[in-house]
Amino acid sequence: MTLPALPGGTQPLVEQLAAVVAQMPDPSGGPDVAQLEHDLAEVFGVSHVVAVSSGTAALHAALSACGIGPGDEVLVPALSVVMTVAPLAALRAVPVFVDSDPATLDLDYDDAARKVTSRTRAIIPVHLWGRMGDPAALTAFASTRGLAVIEDAAQAAGTARDGKQAGTVGVGCFSMKDGKILWSGEGGFLLTAQPEIAQHAAAFRNHWQQAPAGEAPFSRLATNSRLAAPLAAIALANLRRLPALVERRRAQTRYLLDTLKQASGLVALPSATGEEWNGFAPLLHIDLPSPRRFAQHLAQQGVPNSTGSFRLVPCDTRPMFTGHGRPCRGAADILDHTLAVILTERDAKTTLDRYAAVITHEAAAWAP
Ligand SMILES: Cc1ncc(COP(=O)(O)O)c(C=O)c1O
Repeated sequence: MTLPALPGGTQPLVEQLAAVVAQMPDPSGGPDVAQLEHDLAEVFGVSHVVAVSSGTAALHAALSACGIGPGDEVLVPALSVVMTVAPLAALRAVPVFVDSDPATLDLDYDDAARKVTSRTRAIIPVHLWGRMGDPAALTAFASTRGLAVIEDAAQAAGTARDGKQAGTVGVGCFSMKDGKILWSGEGGFLLTAQPEIAQHAAAFRNHWQQAPAGEAPFSRLATNSRLAAPLAAIALANLRRLPALVERRRAQTRYLLDTLKQASGLVALPSATGEEWNGFAPLLHIDLPSPRRFAQHLAQQGVPNSTGSFRLVPCDTRPMFTGHGRPCRGAADILDHTLAVILTERDAKTTLDRYAAVITHEAAAWAP
């Protein structure tokens, strides 16, 4: 099997960036951000896109646009990163952690239902590792309870399920931080079908200077989370090769998982029926003693992975959240037993072969 090459390499990206830099300084910010928003809207088939400085900023703007404020409760999976939850703290809203189902990685909707109160306003599904939950279950859960849906699709560009692209079920929030499939160094954007959400988010990212219809500029305090023009130019160049970037990531993931088929104590996690997964990170269930220590050991042996390299733990067990109810055991079980190998578009077969050899050897020899 050969990995699909990336057409044109990074040359178009360098040219696009050089053209923007040649026009700077430009206090108006130049046309690149608007062009990026236009092109993203076409690619995702949505009516409104607002580009911002990070995925965290996209979530912050989206939550603000959905009217989330002090004391509002928002359901969020414990199977998440602190970046999902930080904007809630900034808005003085209350995260209510929901468990996930180890069999599917999707939200545990029974647990979510138990945690709904009269103060619950929204739910943030997090498409961790690019895996997307069931969009029909999400929509049914939220609509019967009148909850806004803000998707954390930071890792999910290119994933779809049952014909629905990740980030188009609710207000979709993406990160373009270096390491994401669609990257610009730093950056983010949100997708929405609702013009008022887009207007609010556009005002929010720019100190309420371009206020929504019927409101005066600067009539409320907001923030600066604008995307810089050079980063928009990088994003534009990468957006043009997005299908190739997704195809390559899927092929890398397939190749590594195929190569690891015989590895002892490691079983590839299948994606769901109807899911077109972007292959963000090859996922394996670790059926070995002390599985988290095994992931850490692999990181030390040069195989970067979510739990071993970044010490990813359920968000509800972070020090600032402990003591607020029972820990989410499904999320802990998933993170303790999942090897999520971190890839980049540069990883060629030689790198993947090295990862596979290290993983296979260390799994066979594992005696903690
Ligand atoms: C799942 C998830 N949510 C949110 C974020 C936050 O994005 P950013 O780092 O661009 O603020 C990230 C990326 O780091 C992420 O992976």
